[in-house]
Amino acid sequence: MQQMSIFFSTTKLINDTVGYIGTFKPQYPTDSVNGNPEDGRHAFVYACSTCHGALGQGVELFNTPGLRTIGNQYLFDQIKKFQNLQRGANGKDRLGRIMQEVSHILEDDQMIWDVIAYMQPLPVFDDNIQEVTDVE
Ligand code: HEC
Repeated sequence: MQQMSIFFSTTKLINDTVGYIGTFKPQYPTDSVNGNPEDGRHAFVYACSTCHGALGQGVELFNTPGLRTIGNQYLFDQIKKFQNLQRGANGKDRLGRIMQEVSHILEDDQMIWDVIAYMQPLPVFDDNIQEVTDVE
């Protein structure tokens, strides 16, 4: 990290870098989902959107990340890790702990895929420019 801060030693360079990152386009998940969106809808609306937002865009106030621009397999793996106590198990990881508790709402692997399938066609938010883009 120290090397990094030396690297970013001038404010201008930092601003240029942040500006550059702001031009990144959101990456839409392209990997396939073996789930039923209709079955996933109920769980998403009642169990996920409260914290992650109605479109899964992430809510700054609740420190929740956006879920839509991450790969589907990654999402699945993270939920499994919360369930298996591989993630959020450290007592100091307050946010991870919250998600760990919530993850058990999804009772089996199929239910996880169903929720991910439901999130597929939701509009994708680009956190940097706060624009909504319909997924083709
Ligand atoms: C009570 C609030 C709350 C609810 C409800 C909730 N989450 Fe989360 N979720 C969080 C928080 C806080 C984090 C950030 C955890 C961290 O930083 O480790 C998170 C993180 C995640 C991550 C990790 C994302 C990443 O970038 O690694 C996934 C995946 C996720 N949630 C999926 C879901 C799903 C699916 C549901 C519905 C079943 C859900 N969450 C419901 C609070 C919530």
